[in-house]
Amino acid sequence: MKVSYHGHSVVKIETNEKVILIDPFITGNELTDLKAEEENPDVILLTHGHNDHVGDTVEIAKRSGALVVAVAELATYMGFRGVENVHPMSIGGAYEFDFGRVKFTQAFHGSSFTEEENKRIVYTGMPGGILFTAEGKTIYHLGDTALFSDMKLIGEYNDIDLAFVPIGDNFTMGPEDAKIAVEWIGATTSVPIHYNTFPPIKQNPKVFIDSLSDGKGKLLEAGQVIEL
Ligand code: NI
Ligand code: MN
Repeated sequence: MKVSYHGHSVVKIETNEKVILIDPFITGNELTDLKAEEENPDVILLTHGHNDHVGDTVEIAKRSGALVVAVAELATYMGFRGVENVHPMSIGGAYEFDFGRVKFTQAFHGSSFTEEENKRIVYTGMPGGILFTAEGKTIYHLGDTALFSDMKLIGEYNDIDLAFVPIGDNFTMGPEDAKIAVEWIGATTSVPIHYNTFPPIKQNPKVFIDSLSDGKGKLLEAGQVIEL
């Protein structure tokens, strides 16, 4: 399968049969190479409800008919905003879809959608990370999270090929905690995400990669692909 990074927390997975987008924050994301109107995924996976993760989900799903998979409250809220095809899940649950297996892990963070037009915050359940398995490969997208010690268990009980790890600090782990997360998760390759999009999360990802054991980290520029 092909896995590509598109700035902030946007990841695209292309299996033999399906295209899956994770956290498609495209409009307003100055670091992405994607255009929301050109994306036609089969599936959108959401780690949590923050606007910099839900992003263009509603527009893309309405146009493409993509299935949106999210924690139950967020899935319901996506339905209220006009997404027809949603699949609700919860932390700790896994489901075998025709495009692969999705399991939601915990994340220590918030989860809400800000309705700017109403000056209202709608809470959208628990934030999560996503373990995605297809074609014999497992990808762990951590979402937005602080460091938590159950990452050791996630690493122990899953054979993770590729992890997407937030390093931006301020809203999530910073580079020091992310280095510990990478060690605990033990993925073959870890890719830093969620940095440099906004001033409070400015980081030098090369310094982070250099802090890891040799060959453990890989820097992906927007649009770059890893073949699994
Ligand atoms: Ni967030
Ligand atoms: Mn975020």
